[in-house]
Amino acid sequence: ELDATICWMTDEPLRAGQEVWLRHTTRSVRGRVRRIVHRIDVDTLHREARETLELNDIARVHVALASPVAFDPYAMNRETGSFILIDPATNGTVAAGMIRGEVRAVPDPADRARPAVHVSPNVVWESEEGVALAEREARSGHRSAVVWFTGLSGSGKTTVARGVERELFRRGVQVARLDGDLVRHGLNGDLGFGLDDRTENIRRVAEVAALMARQGSIVLCAFVSPYAEARAFARSRVDEGRFHEVWVSTPLDECERRDAKGLYARARAGEIPNFTGISDPYESPESPELELDTSDVSVEVAVDRVIAMLVDRDVIQEGR
Ligand code: ADX
Repeated sequence: ELDATICWMTDEPLRAGQEVWLRHTTRSVRGRVRRIVHRIDVDTLHREARETLELNDIARVHVALASPVAFDPYAMNRETGSFILIDPATNGTVAAGMIRGEVRAVPDPADRARPAVHVSPNVVWESEEGVALAEREARSGHRSAVVWFTGLSGSGKTTVARGVERELFRRGVQVARLDGDLVRHGLNGDLGFGLDDRTENIRRVAEVAALMARQGSIVLCAFVSPYAEARAFARSRVDEGRFHEVWVSTPLDECERRDAKGLYARARAGEIPNFTGISDPYESPESPELELDTSDVSVEVAVDRVIAMLVDRDVIQEGR
């Protein structure tokens, strides 16, 4: 399946599902335009969702092919990176296209974004001979926990997590914070933003958070973590009741309006691939322990709500 930019060249509008012949170098292959990803406004370069393409529209599309073709991205080779689409009914040319690359198979929910639990051979799990969790909890006066903040970039995860960290610290809690932007500088500096890398990012963080929670900390994790499966994995790494998912549900338009890091503008301009909310999906949590929309509530109120949740769920005690 090809990811391509096309110019639609005929009066009859294009709809997703349309059958075509794809003529590429000397070959013609049967296929269908499986998806119109977006239309590109040639004046503003904005991307617009469209069900159909009209004459002279430029758009990004996915074309599924009945048999493989050997191609290069158009940016690398104009000959092997371009094609035309032919209407099988009329034999007329209906589009000219430039190949961007191969569509990465959108994984089936059943087999996507689920990190594997790796166990090295000849390594045994340490038996509880160090300081036990119960001893640590008895001394600290609170339970250990993983508080997992998920939401779009710019939704306020880090800001709220920092506020919660400050308040827990003030109360004498053993608190730690892991954050996408920090972890990706070191531990996960080798990872990008494709499905596999994000899944590995969350796997490593989930494992680190679980180890820290076993040692008595309340671990605040702030990660976009857009895939439900990966979040479910993080939950599965700690004991029942010790994982608290906080969905920072600030809507995309608000995150984009804030654009504190200037990343949305760059993502819209096509400079950052797989950008969550723009060109990569965010799967909203179905039953988070807490939902916070920071366009509705102030940081202070958001922090209070997280603290109240921790009291409610018997992680910390009222007033301390
Ligand atoms: S996650 O998807 O793997 O959980 P993580 O939280 O570690 O993401 O990192 C997200 C941060 O990386 C964002 O806040 C943003 O600053 C930056 N970033 C860079 N590229 C992307 C991208 N393609 N999608 C989302 N965030 C990105």
